[in-house]
Amino acid sequence: MRIRVIGAPIDLGADRRGVDIGPRAIRYAGLNDQLHRLGHTVNDVGNLDVPLPENQPTGNPRLKYLEPITKLAEDLAHTVSDALAEQEFPLILGGDHSMALGSISGVASKHKNLGVIWVDAHADFNIESTTPSGNIHGMILAALAGLGEEQLVNVCGWAPKIDKNKIVILGARDLDEGEQRLLREQHIHVFTMSDIDRRGIATVMQQAIEIAGADNGPIHLSLDLDSLDPKEAPGVGTPVRGGLSYREAHFAMEMLAESARLVSMDVVEVNSILDRENATAQLAVELTLSALGKKIL
Ligand code: ARG
Ligand code: MN
Ligand code: MN
Ligand code: MN
Repeated sequence: MRIRVIGAPIDLGADRRGVDIGPRAIRYAGLNDQLHRLGHTVNDVGNLDVPLPENQPTGNPRLKYLEPITKLAEDLAHTVSDALAEQEFPLILGGDHSMALGSISGVASKHKNLGVIWVDAHADFNIESTTPSGNIHGMILAALAGLGEEQLVNVCGWAPKIDKNKIVILGARDLDEGEQRLLREQHIHVFTMSDIDRRGIATVMQQAIEIAGADNGPIHLSLDLDSLDPKEAPGVGTPVRGGLSYREAHFAMEMLAESARLVSMDVVEVNSILDRENATAQLAVELTLSALGKKIL
């Protein structure tokens, strides 16, 4: 497969600094070389331009950095849809999770029946009235489903990007109160860590693939590294105990590869300032490889 690697070094959607180094850290961990060794062709187009928080106004405290986040989303959507138009698989490196607004908008513009598997400790399903932080990375999935601030929802001039019945959240264990209400009202499929404890990762992932890929549809994977247990992934801005084990995460990725439904992928929230000798970036590379076809035997 031909893979287009796109860096989106944004940290305007989150509070802790350091995710802007993520795309470089993931490359330093050997991403391109290992993809190549797996048999893929890699076209790394570098990083998109993202302004620094130092020279941007914060704006509305309940929607911090709305303007530059929306602007990056439009640039990224364009870059991603170009990749698909040229028959390349978009692999987008974050940055905080706000960049998924752009990546998924770009993919959804080419695949009208796209489903999304959002692997995350969080649901990122807040809106302006429920957010405890004002951080837009916590609102992106809601915006893609058509909920919340209209500038986020209507990025690229159309909405909603994803049918809410084709959204699956996997690995959740830290949901805000208003966010929980919204997830229930909207009947979003959420597989929590408790569901994984009870039924096992294989059963849960199988169901996730069936829901997101209903009617043989394509699937986008949005992988937030904080879905893993902080013992495995210390370099994330919003760590939450009790996450996916190393093998659960790998097996979930292996199942996705086996499904042959993946059309695009984000790898987000690697925070190099908080990381331990680039361990989280290395893990990001390993999981990406499993999602893109690496097998043990
Ligand atoms: N739910 C919290 C918030 O809205 C945390 C979100 C964390 N999101 C993430 N992409 N790491 O602020
Ligand atoms: Mn173009
Ligand atoms: Mn997230
Ligand atoms: Mn998260």
